[in-house]
Amino acid sequence: MTELDDYRPLGRSGLRVSPLALGAMTFGTGPLCADDDTARKVFRAYTERGGNFVDTADNYSAGRSEELVGEFLRDVERDDVVLATKYSGPGFRDGRPHSDPRRRSNGRKNMVASLEASLRRLGVDHVDLYWLHIWDGFTPAEEVVAAFDDLVRAGKIRAAGLSDVPAWYATKAAMLGGPPVTALQLEYSLIERAIEAEFVPLAREFGIAIQPWGAIGGGFLTGKYTRDGGGTGRLAAPGDAGLRASPGNRWAVLDAVRDVAAEVGATPAQVALHWVTRRPAMPAPLIGARSPEQLAETLGALTLEVTGAQLDRLTEVSAPELPFPHGILARLNAGLPH
Ligand SMILES: NC(=O)c1ccc[n+]([C@@H]2O[C@H](COP(=O)([O-])OP(=O)(O)OC[C@H]3O[C@@H](n4cnc5c(N)ncnc54)[C@H](OP(=O)(O)O)[C@@H]3O)[C@@H](O)[C@H]2O)c1
Repeated sequence: MTELDDYRPLGRSGLRVSPLALGAMTFGTGPLCADDDTARKVFRAYTERGGNFVDTADNYSAGRSEELVGEFLRDVERDDVVLATKYSGPGFRDGRPHSDPRRRSNGRKNMVASLEASLRRLGVDHVDLYWLHIWDGFTPAEEVVAAFDDLVRAGKIRAAGLSDVPAWYATKAAMLGGPPVTALQLEYSLIERAIEAEFVPLAREFGIAIQPWGAIGGGFLTGKYTRDGGGTGRLAAPGDAGLRASPGNRWAVLDAVRDVAAEVGATPAQVALHWVTRRPAMPAPLIGARSPEQLAETLGALTLEVTGAQLDRLTEVSAPELPFPHGILARLNAGLPH
């Protein structure tokens, strides 16, 4: 059975990480965040069970998440933790996202300045993994890869990754040489499988790890939302169009997740996350937790006994429609008429 101390390689970086990474987006001051004391308990519960992979970003609660992670790191051996942070994500002003192009640049100047600020907030002299958070739409891959390379040589980062970038951009970066792109951080779950068309084959081709976020669909796959747009989750609001108008067949997916959960004696969230942990090229999906109780439930996903037939049912009911040319290729390569 898999546990958090079942460390595995993250791509070709040389880093060895737990099978679930703790996301610190819920640490800080935002409306979806835990209070500081609860965040400390979540961090402690994760590391005490052998968890070693912690993910934050300079824009989570405008830097407060990094400050808290830095504080919590003082209770553990720094070198036992694979510490990841990100630069150039969207900022928040008055609780709303804003997109100041200077803060959002992926370019060298913003990368270096952002890293220096992150190191100060975290109270460390290097991070193990440094992510470009979201592509800015114009900085060339050559500039990003060269700047990452310099930061590796300077000992400020050990490895680099790309989050929320187009597949063509990730492919180009992977082919430029220099330090390999170690990992791609991308949304992936039973209700969001778009990355299977391009990113999963590219990850296999280049030996890159994919680190999924949103594995329980932002809470949807816990089953706490209802078809009429209500429910007990924080995202529910009466008449919430996002949940009611649900794209694709997400309610059918949720029904299948509930069925399997009942069969194996687990919660829907555990089954949904377990499915992601069994997918290829994804050694360390991210999890988010606002309380130690949520964390304990989520970690239970690692030790579930779900059969191949049950996993196949979930894979089938959630199968995405593949974009051109993948639909034709899949049919032709299976010997079917197109
Ligand atoms: N690169 C990117 O663009 C990106 C984007 C998003 C996240 N991330 C990273 O991924 C990490 C995880 O984020 P995520 O969105 O994937 O989180 P998640 O695991 O999908 O959790 C999202 C929310 O679901 C609820 N939840 C979690 N566990 C639950 C449980 N066992 N039972 C009931 N509800 C539960 C919590 O919200 P409530 O209790 O408030 O309902 C939680 O905040 C973040 O901390 C961050 O590090 C990266």
